[in-house]
Amino acid sequence: MPVNIRAIAAQICFSVVDKGRSLAEEIPHNSSRIAAKDKGLLQEICYGVLRYLPELEYTVQQLMDKPLKGKQRSCHFLLLVGIYQLKYMRIPDHAAVSETVAATSSLKAKHFKNLVNAILRSFQRMQKEQKESEEASNHLPSDAIKYNHPSWFIKKVQLAYPEQWQGVLAANQEKPPMWLRVNQSQNTITDYKKTLIDAEIAIAAEDPLSGALKLGQATDVNKLPDFSEGAASVQDAAAQQAARLLDCQSGDKVLDSCAAPGGKTCHILELAPDIESMTALDIDDKRLARVQENLERIGLSAELVAADAADPSIWWQGDQFDRILLDAPCSATGVIRRHPDIKWLRKASDIESLVSLQRDILKKTWSLLKPGGTLLYATCSILPAENSEQIKAFLAEQEDAELIDLPEYQGNIGWQILPGEQDMDGFYYAKLRKKLS
Ligand SMILES: C[S@@+](CC[C@H](N)C(=O)[O-])C[C@H]1O[C@@H](n2cnc3c(N)ncnc32)[C@H](O)[C@@H]1O
Repeated sequence: MPVNIRAIAAQICFSVVDKGRSLAEEIPHNSSRIAAKDKGLLQEICYGVLRYLPELEYTVQQLMDKPLKGKQRSCHFLLLVGIYQLKYMRIPDHAAVSETVAATSSLKAKHFKNLVNAILRSFQRMQKEQKESEEASNHLPSDAIKYNHPSWFIKKVQLAYPEQWQGVLAANQEKPPMWLRVNQSQNTITDYKKTLIDAEIAIAAEDPLSGALKLGQATDVNKLPDFSEGAASVQDAAAQQAARLLDCQSGDKVLDSCAAPGGKTCHILELAPDIESMTALDIDDKRLARVQENLERIGLSAELVAADAADPSIWWQGDQFDRILLDAPCSATGVIRRHPDIKWLRKASDIESLVSLQRDILKKTWSLLKPGGTLLYATCSILPAENSEQIKAFLAEQEDAELIDLPEYQGNIGWQILPGEQDMDGFYYAKLRKKLS
Protein backbone atom coordinates (compact mmCIF):
# COMPACT_ATOMS: atom_id res chain seq x y z
CA MET A 1 0.00 0.00 0.00
CA PRO A 2 1.45 3.47 -0.83
CA VAL A 3 2.34 5.47 2.24
CA ASN A 4 -0.31 8.00 3.23
CA ILE A 5 1.27 11.33 4.26
CA ARG A 6 -1.80 12.37 6.29
CA ALA A 7 -1.61 9.15 8.32
CA ILE A 8 2.08 9.77 9.09
CA ALA A 9 1.35 13.42 9.96
CA ALA A 10 -1.41 12.31 12.37
CA GLN A 11 0.97 9.83 14.04
CA ILE A 12 3.72 12.46 14.38
CA CYS A 13 1.34 15.03 15.94
CA PHE A 14 0.05 12.32 18.28
CA SER A 15 3.66 11.54 19.36
CA VAL A 16 4.42 15.21 20.00
CA VAL A 17 1.25 16.15 21.87
CA ASP A 18 0.51 12.93 23.78
CA LYS A 19 3.98 11.44 24.19
CA GLY A 20 6.14 14.56 24.50
CA ARG A 21 8.44 13.85 21.54
CA SER A 22 9.83 16.70 19.47
CA LEU A 23 9.24 17.39 15.78
CA ALA A 24 13.03 17.45 15.36
CA GLU A 25 13.09 13.78 16.46
CA GLU A 26 9.87 12.58 14.88
CA ILE A 27 10.10 13.99 11.36
CA PRO A 28 13.56 12.51 10.57
CA HIS A 29 12.50 9.28 12.31
CA ASN A 30 9.62 8.91 9.83
CA SER A 31 11.26 10.38 6.74
CA SER A 32 12.67 7.06 5.48
CA ARG A 33 9.03 5.93 5.02
CA ILE A 34 8.22 8.63 2.47
CA ALA A 35 9.43 9.85 -0.92
CA ALA A 36 11.68 12.92 -1.01
CA LYS A 37 9.03 14.87 -2.95
CA ASP A 38 6.52 14.43 -0.08
CA LYS A 39 8.79 15.67 2.71
CA GLY A 40 7.74 19.29 2.32
CA LEU A 41 4.05 18.37 2.51
CA LEU A 42 4.58 16.24 5.63
CA GLN A 43 6.51 19.06 7.29
CA GLU A 44 3.94 21.69 6.35
CA ILE A 45 1.04 19.65 7.76
CA CYS A 46 2.80 18.72 11.03
CA TYR A 47 4.10 22.24 11.70
CA GLY A 48 0.73 23.74 10.77
CA VAL A 49 -1.30 21.45 13.04
CA LEU A 50 1.00 22.28 15.97
CA ARG A 51 0.83 26.01 15.21
CA TYR A 52 -2.96 26.00 15.29
CA LEU A 53 -3.57 23.15 17.75
CA PRO A 54 -6.03 24.87 20.20
CA GLU A 55 -8.12 26.29 17.38
CA LEU A 56 -8.27 22.92 15.57
CA GLU A 57 -9.13 21.10 18.81
CA TYR A 58 -11.93 23.58 19.44
CA THR A 59 -13.32 23.02 15.93
CA VAL A 60 -13.38 19.24 16.42
CA GLN A 61 -15.11 19.77 19.76
CA GLN A 62 -17.81 21.80 18.01
CA LEU A 63 -18.36 19.10 15.40
CA MET A 64 -18.35 15.98 17.62
CA ASP A 65 -20.32 14.99 20.68
CA LYS A 66 -17.51 12.95 22.20
CA PRO A 67 -13.81 13.21 21.33
CA LEU A 68 -11.94 10.09 20.18
CA LYS A 69 -9.90 8.75 23.07
CA GLY A 70 -7.35 6.05 23.94
CA LYS A 71 -6.52 3.85 20.94
CA GLN A 72 -8.60 6.14 18.74
CA ARG A 73 -6.32 9.10 19.37
CA SER A 74 -4.42 8.78 16.10
CA CYS A 75 -7.79 9.22 14.30
CA HIS A 76 -8.46 12.29 16.46
CA PHE A 77 -5.18 13.76 15.16
CA LEU A 78 -6.19 12.75 11.63
CA LEU A 79 -9.26 14.99 12.01
CA LEU A 80 -6.99 17.88 13.03
CA VAL A 81 -4.81 17.14 9.98
CA GLY A 82 -7.91 17.18 7.74
CA ILE A 83 -9.29 20.44 9.14
CA TYR A 84 -5.89 22.14 8.97
CA GLN A 85 -5.61 21.34 5.26
CA LEU A 86 -9.12 22.61 4.52
CA LYS A 87 -8.63 25.78 6.50
CA TYR A 88 -5.03 26.76 5.81
CA MET A 89 -3.61 24.91 2.82
CA ARG A 90 -4.04 25.41 -0.89
CA ILE A 91 -4.80 21.75 -1.55
CA PRO A 92 -8.13 21.37 -3.42
CA ASP A 93 -10.81 20.47 -0.86
CA HIS A 94 -11.81 17.21 -2.55
CA ALA A 95 -8.19 15.97 -2.53
CA ALA A 96 -7.68 16.99 1.12
CA VAL A 97 -10.84 15.15 2.17
CA SER A 98 -10.28 12.01 0.11
CA GLU A 99 -6.63 11.64 1.15
CA THR A 100 -7.51 12.17 4.81
CA VAL A 101 -10.36 9.68 4.67
CA ALA A 102 -8.05 7.18 2.91
CA ALA A 103 -5.53 7.61 5.76
CA THR A 104 -7.89 5.69 8.08
CA SER A 105 -6.78 2.48 6.30
CA SER A 106 -3.08 3.21 6.97
CA LEU A 107 -3.97 3.86 10.61
CA LYS A 108 -5.77 0.48 10.73
CA ALA A 109 -8.99 2.32 11.49
CA LYS A 110 -11.10 1.66 8.40
CA HIS A 111 -14.19 1.63 10.61
CA PHE A 112 -13.68 5.41 11.13
CA LYS A 113 -13.76 6.12 7.40
CA ASN A 114 -17.37 7.34 7.41
CA LEU A 115 -16.90 9.31 10.61
CA VAL A 116 -13.81 11.16 9.30
CA ASN A 117 -15.63 11.86 6.04
CA ALA A 118 -18.72 13.17 7.85
CA ILE A 119 -16.73 15.44 10.19
CA LEU A 120 -14.71 16.97 7.36
CA ARG A 121 -17.87 17.55 5.32
CA SER A 122 -19.54 19.20 8.32
CA PHE A 123 -16.47 21.38 8.72
CA GLN A 124 -16.75 22.52 5.11
CA ARG A 125 -20.40 23.46 5.69
CA MET A 126 -19.54 25.27 8.92
CA GLN A 127 -16.76 27.20 7.18
CA LYS A 128 -19.13 28.22 4.38
CA GLU A 129 -21.81 29.39 6.81
CA GLN A 130 -19.25 31.36 8.83
CA LYS A 131 -17.96 33.05 5.69
CA GLU A 132 -21.49 33.96 4.60
CA SER A 133 -22.43 35.41 7.95
CA GLU A 134 -19.00 37.07 8.19
CA GLU A 135 -18.68 35.52 11.58
CA ALA A 136 -15.03 35.95 12.48
CA SER A 137 -13.05 34.45 15.31
CA ASN A 138 -14.47 37.01 17.78
CA HIS A 139 -16.54 34.42 19.59
CA LEU A 140 -13.69 32.12 20.57
CA PRO A 141 -14.07 31.12 24.20
CA SER A 142 -10.50 31.62 25.44
CA ASP A 143 -7.24 33.40 24.69
CA ALA A 144 -5.54 30.02 24.30
CA ILE A 145 -7.83 29.28 21.32
CA LYS A 146 -7.77 32.81 19.98
CA TYR A 147 -3.96 33.10 20.02
CA ASN A 148 -3.06 29.40 19.69
CA HIS A 149 -0.70 29.32 22.66
CA PRO A 150 -0.93 27.68 26.12
CA SER A 151 -2.64 29.93 28.70
CA TRP A 152 0.28 29.88 31.16
CA PHE A 153 2.56 31.20 28.45
CA ILE A 154 0.13 33.90 27.29
CA LYS A 155 -0.07 35.15 30.90
CA LYS A 156 3.71 35.32 31.23
CA VAL A 157 4.06 37.21 27.93
CA GLN A 158 1.26 39.66 28.89
CA LEU A 159 2.97 40.33 32.20
CA ALA A 160 6.43 40.82 30.69
CA TYR A 161 5.33 42.80 27.61
CA PRO A 162 2.03 44.58 28.34
CA GLU A 163 2.35 46.64 25.15
CA GLN A 164 3.74 44.03 22.80
CA TRP A 165 2.28 40.68 23.89
CA GLN A 166 -0.14 40.34 20.97
CA GLY A 167 2.63 41.13 18.48
CA VAL A 168 4.86 38.49 20.10
CA LEU A 169 2.14 35.82 19.90
CA ALA A 170 1.34 36.78 16.30
CA ALA A 171 5.04 36.60 15.33
CA ASN A 172 5.23 33.10 16.83
CA GLN A 173 2.51 32.00 14.41
CA GLU A 174 4.44 33.15 11.33
CA LYS A 175 6.48 30.85 9.12
CA PRO A 176 10.12 31.85 9.77
CA PRO A 177 12.38 33.29 7.09
CA MET A 178 15.67 31.73 6.02
CA TRP A 179 18.67 33.80 7.11
CA LEU A 180 22.21 33.17 5.89
CA ARG A 181 25.51 33.83 7.59
CA VAL A 182 28.25 34.75 5.15
CA ASN A 183 31.64 33.32 6.03
CA GLN A 184 33.60 36.55 6.17
CA SER A 185 36.93 34.75 6.30
CA GLN A 186 36.19 33.57 2.72
CA ASN A 187 34.18 36.42 1.13
CA THR A 188 32.99 39.90 1.88
CA ILE A 189 29.25 40.19 2.34
CA THR A 190 29.09 42.38 -0.78
CA ASP A 191 30.85 39.73 -2.88
CA TYR A 192 28.70 36.88 -1.59
CA LYS A 193 25.57 38.90 -2.28
CA LYS A 194 26.73 39.19 -5.89
CA THR A 195 27.19 35.39 -6.16
CA LEU A 196 23.67 34.90 -4.76
CA ILE A 197 22.23 37.32 -7.29
CA ASP A 198 24.16 35.54 -10.10
CA ALA A 199 22.63 32.26 -8.87
CA GLU A 200 19.20 33.93 -9.05
CA ILE A 201 18.66 33.64 -5.30
CA ALA A 202 16.73 36.68 -4.12
CA ILE A 203 17.87 38.57 -1.01
CA ALA A 204 14.98 40.14 0.90
CA ALA A 205 16.94 42.04 3.57
CA GLU A 206 20.32 42.52 5.23
CA ASP A 207 20.75 42.98 8.97
CA PRO A 208 22.95 46.10 9.30
CA LEU A 209 24.45 44.98 12.62
CA SER A 210 25.59 41.45 11.78
CA GLY A 211 25.46 41.40 7.97
CA ALA A 212 23.00 38.48 8.06
CA LEU A 213 21.18 38.02 4.74
CA LYS A 214 17.49 37.18 4.62
CA LEU A 215 16.51 35.21 1.54
CA GLY A 216 13.36 35.97 -0.41
CA GLN A 217 12.32 32.35 0.06
CA ALA A 218 13.63 29.14 1.61
CA THR A 219 16.23 27.54 -0.65
CA ASP A 220 17.89 24.12 -0.64
CA VAL A 221 21.32 24.67 0.96
CA ASN A 222 22.96 22.69 -1.83
CA LYS A 223 21.89 25.40 -4.26
CA LEU A 224 23.73 28.10 -2.26
CA PRO A 225 27.02 29.09 -3.94
CA ASP A 226 29.97 27.20 -2.35
CA PHE A 227 27.86 25.94 0.56
CA SER A 228 29.85 22.69 0.81
CA GLU A 229 33.08 24.73 1.08
CA GLY A 230 31.63 26.70 3.98
CA ALA A 231 30.99 29.99 2.19
CA ALA A 232 27.63 30.37 3.93
CA SER A 233 25.59 28.78 6.72
CA VAL A 234 21.95 28.90 7.70
CA GLN A 235 21.53 30.86 10.94
CA ASP A 236 18.92 33.31 12.18
CA ALA A 237 20.02 36.96 12.34
CA ALA A 238 19.38 37.03 16.11
CA ALA A 239 21.85 34.17 16.64
CA GLN A 240 24.34 35.98 14.38
CA GLN A 241 24.65 38.81 16.91
CA ALA A 242 26.62 36.59 19.33
CA ALA A 243 30.01 36.53 17.58
CA ARG A 244 29.86 40.28 16.91
CA LEU A 245 29.03 41.08 20.54
CA LEU A 246 31.69 38.72 21.91
CA ASP A 247 34.20 40.58 19.72
CA CYS A 248 37.14 38.16 20.06
CA GLN A 249 40.63 39.56 19.56
CA SER A 250 43.81 38.08 18.18
CA GLY A 251 45.45 35.78 20.75
CA ASP A 252 42.31 35.26 22.86
CA LYS A 253 41.60 31.96 24.57
CA VAL A 254 37.90 31.42 23.96
CA LEU A 255 35.35 29.07 25.54
CA ASP A 256 32.01 28.35 23.91
CA SER A 257 30.11 26.78 26.77
CA CYS A 258 26.94 24.91 25.65
CA ALA A 259 28.17 24.96 22.05
CA ALA A 260 26.23 22.32 20.13
CA PRO A 261 25.35 22.20 17.25
CA GLY A 262 28.10 24.79 16.86
CA GLY A 263 26.58 27.63 14.81
CA LYS A 264 28.08 30.26 17.08
CA THR A 265 31.40 28.41 17.52
CA CYS A 266 31.88 28.48 13.76
CA HIS A 267 30.82 32.11 13.47
CA ILE A 268 33.32 33.19 16.16
CA LEU A 269 36.12 31.36 14.31
CA GLU A 270 35.08 32.87 10.96
CA LEU A 271 35.20 36.41 12.37
CA ALA A 272 38.35 35.97 14.45
CA PRO A 273 40.56 33.33 12.79
CA ASP A 274 43.64 34.39 14.78
CA ILE A 275 42.39 33.64 18.30
CA GLU A 276 44.75 31.41 20.25
CA SER A 277 42.27 28.65 20.99
CA MET A 278 38.60 27.72 20.87
CA THR A 279 37.17 25.21 23.32
CA ALA A 280 33.64 24.10 22.43
CA LEU A 281 31.90 22.35 25.32
CA ASP A 282 28.55 20.58 25.46
CA ILE A 283 27.05 17.98 27.78
CA ASP A 284 25.54 16.01 24.90
CA ASP A 285 28.13 14.06 22.93
CA LYS A 286 25.71 13.28 20.06
CA ARG A 287 25.05 16.98 19.62
CA LEU A 288 28.79 17.65 19.95
CA ALA A 289 29.34 15.42 16.89
CA ARG A 290 27.29 17.98 14.95
CA VAL A 291 29.74 20.70 16.04
CA GLN A 292 32.50 18.62 14.47
CA GLU A 293 30.49 18.21 11.23
CA ASN A 294 29.88 21.95 11.02
CA LEU A 295 33.54 22.77 11.71
CA GLU A 296 34.65 20.30 9.03
CA ARG A 297 32.33 21.66 6.34
CA ILE A 298 33.75 25.14 6.90
CA GLY A 299 37.36 23.94 7.36
CA LEU A 300 37.69 25.12 10.96
CA SER A 301 38.92 23.43 14.11
CA ALA A 302 38.27 23.60 17.84
CA GLU A 303 38.92 21.52 20.91
CA LEU A 304 35.68 19.66 21.64
CA VAL A 305 34.81 18.72 25.22
CA ALA A 306 31.80 16.60 26.22
CA ALA A 307 31.15 17.65 29.82
CA ASP A 308 28.81 19.36 32.24
CA ALA A 309 29.36 23.13 32.24
CA ALA A 310 28.12 23.20 35.82
CA ASP A 311 31.01 20.95 36.91
CA PRO A 312 34.29 22.35 35.47
CA SER A 313 36.40 20.34 37.96
CA ILE A 314 35.99 17.30 35.66
CA TRP A 315 37.52 18.82 32.55
CA TRP A 316 39.05 22.24 33.21
CA GLN A 317 42.87 22.39 33.20
CA GLY A 318 43.12 25.63 35.18
CA ASP A 319 43.88 28.11 32.37
CA GLN A 320 41.36 30.95 32.45
CA PHE A 321 39.67 32.24 29.28
CA ASP A 322 39.70 35.77 27.82
CA ARG A 323 36.20 35.43 26.30
CA ILE A 324 33.36 33.08 27.10
CA LEU A 325 30.10 32.61 25.26
CA LEU A 326 27.47 31.05 27.50
CA ASP A 327 24.54 30.17 25.24
CA ALA A 328 22.58 28.65 28.07
CA PRO A 329 20.00 25.84 27.90
CA CYS A 330 16.65 27.64 28.04
CA SER A 331 12.90 27.44 27.42
CA ALA A 332 13.45 28.25 23.71
CA THR A 333 10.36 30.46 23.87
CA GLY A 334 12.02 32.88 21.42
CA VAL A 335 12.09 30.32 18.61
CA ILE A 336 8.49 29.08 18.65
CA ARG A 337 7.97 30.18 15.04
CA ARG A 338 10.72 27.69 14.04
CA HIS A 339 9.64 24.99 16.50
CA PRO A 340 5.88 25.23 17.16
CA ASP A 341 6.05 21.98 19.18
CA ILE A 342 7.78 23.99 21.96
CA LYS A 343 4.36 25.41 22.86
CA TRP A 344 3.13 21.93 23.81
CA LEU A 345 6.37 20.33 25.03
CA ARG A 346 7.35 23.11 27.44
CA LYS A 347 5.44 23.22 30.73
CA ALA A 348 5.10 26.15 33.13
CA SER A 349 6.87 24.04 35.77
CA ASP A 350 9.99 23.72 33.54
CA ILE A 351 10.88 27.39 33.86
CA GLU A 352 11.97 27.32 37.48
CA SER A 353 14.34 24.38 36.98
CA LEU A 354 15.79 25.98 33.83
CA VAL A 355 16.42 29.22 35.72
CA SER A 356 18.19 27.29 38.44
CA LEU A 357 20.32 25.35 35.91
CA GLN A 358 21.27 28.61 34.16
CA ARG A 359 22.20 30.19 37.50
CA ASP A 360 24.41 27.24 38.31
CA ILE A 361 26.15 27.14 34.92
CA LEU A 362 26.66 30.93 34.92
CA LYS A 363 28.24 30.89 38.37
CA LYS A 364 30.59 27.99 37.57
CA THR A 365 31.51 29.34 34.14
CA TRP A 366 32.32 32.74 35.64
CA SER A 367 35.17 31.15 37.62
CA LEU A 368 36.82 30.16 34.31
CA LEU A 369 37.03 33.78 33.13
CA LYS A 370 40.22 35.86 33.45
CA PRO A 371 39.99 39.13 35.41
CA GLY A 372 39.40 41.75 32.70
CA GLY A 373 37.79 39.11 30.47
CA THR A 374 34.25 39.18 29.05
CA LEU A 375 31.41 36.68 29.17
CA LEU A 376 28.45 36.94 26.84
CA TYR A 377 25.32 35.38 28.33
CA ALA A 378 22.75 34.38 25.69
CA THR A 379 19.43 32.55 25.51
CA CYS A 380 16.76 32.04 22.86
CA SER A 381 14.12 32.77 25.49
CA ILE A 382 11.81 35.76 25.88
CA LEU A 383 11.06 35.17 29.56
CA PRO A 384 12.61 37.78 31.91
CA ALA A 385 13.22 35.11 34.57
CA GLU A 386 15.79 33.47 32.30
CA ASN A 387 17.19 36.74 31.01
CA SER A 388 17.21 40.21 32.62
CA GLU A 389 16.14 38.88 36.05
CA GLN A 390 18.78 36.15 35.91
CA ILE A 391 21.49 38.71 35.08
CA LYS A 392 20.22 41.21 37.67
CA ALA A 393 20.43 38.55 40.40
CA PHE A 394 23.90 37.49 39.21
CA LEU A 395 25.21 41.07 39.29
CA ALA A 396 23.81 41.56 42.80
CA GLU A 397 25.58 38.47 44.06
CA GLN A 398 28.83 38.44 42.07
CA GLU A 399 30.89 41.40 43.23
CA ASP A 400 33.54 41.10 40.51
CA ALA A 401 30.95 41.20 37.71
CA GLU A 402 29.77 44.29 35.84
CA LEU A 403 27.43 44.75 32.91
CA ILE A 404 29.12 46.23 29.83
CA ASP A 405 26.78 48.89 28.53
CA LEU A 406 25.72 48.42 24.91
CA PRO A 407 23.48 50.68 22.79
CA GLU A 408 21.33 47.64 21.97
CA TYR A 409 20.13 47.46 25.61
CA GLN A 410 18.20 50.75 25.28
CA GLY A 411 18.42 51.28 29.02
CA ASN A 412 17.43 47.71 29.98
CA ILE A 413 19.51 45.01 31.62
CA GLY A 414 20.66 43.29 28.45
CA TRP A 415 19.29 43.15 24.93
CA GLN A 416 15.95 41.43 24.63
CA ILE A 417 15.09 40.76 21.01
CA LEU A 418 11.42 39.85 20.62
CA PRO A 419 10.35 37.38 17.92
CA GLY A 420 9.57 39.16 14.67
CA GLU A 421 11.68 42.27 15.45
CA GLN A 422 13.47 42.91 12.14
CA ASP A 423 12.14 39.44 11.33
CA MET A 424 14.55 37.86 13.82
CA ASP A 425 14.00 35.08 16.35
CA GLY A 426 13.51 36.02 19.99
CA PHE A 427 16.89 36.16 21.75
CA TYR A 428 18.60 37.69 24.76
CA TYR A 429 22.17 38.94 25.24
CA ALA A 430 24.00 40.43 28.21
CA LYS A 431 27.73 41.18 28.07
CA LEU A 432 29.57 40.99 31.40
CA ARG A 433 33.09 41.96 32.40
CA LYS A 434 35.15 40.50 35.25
CA LYS A 435 36.57 43.41 37.18
CA LEU A 436 40.32 43.60 37.72
CA SER A 437 40.80 43.29 41.47
C1 LIG B 1 20.90 26.79 23.07
S1 LIG B 1 21.73 25.31 22.76
C2 LIG B 1 23.27 25.89 22.17
C3 LIG B 1 23.28 26.34 20.73
C4 LIG B 1 24.68 26.64 20.22
N1 LIG B 1 25.37 27.61 21.02
C5 LIG B 1 24.71 27.10 18.77
O1 LIG B 1 24.76 28.28 18.48
O2 LIG B 1 24.67 26.23 17.87
C6 LIG B 1 22.10 24.80 24.40
C7 LIG B 1 23.05 23.63 24.51
O3 LIG B 1 23.33 23.46 25.90
C8 LIG B 1 23.66 22.10 26.11
N2 LIG B 1 23.62 21.87 27.57
C9 LIG B 1 22.54 21.71 28.36
N3 LIG B 1 22.92 21.54 29.63
C10 LIG B 1 24.27 21.63 29.65
C11 LIG B 1 25.26 21.52 30.67
N4 LIG B 1 24.90 21.31 31.94
N5 LIG B 1 26.55 21.63 30.33
C12 LIG B 1 26.90 21.83 29.04
N6 LIG B 1 26.02 21.91 28.03
C13 LIG B 1 24.72 21.82 28.33
C14 LIG B 1 22.63 21.37 25.26
O4 LIG B 1 23.09 20.07 24.95
C15 LIG B 1 22.53 22.29 24.04
O5 LIG B 1 23.34 21.81 22.99
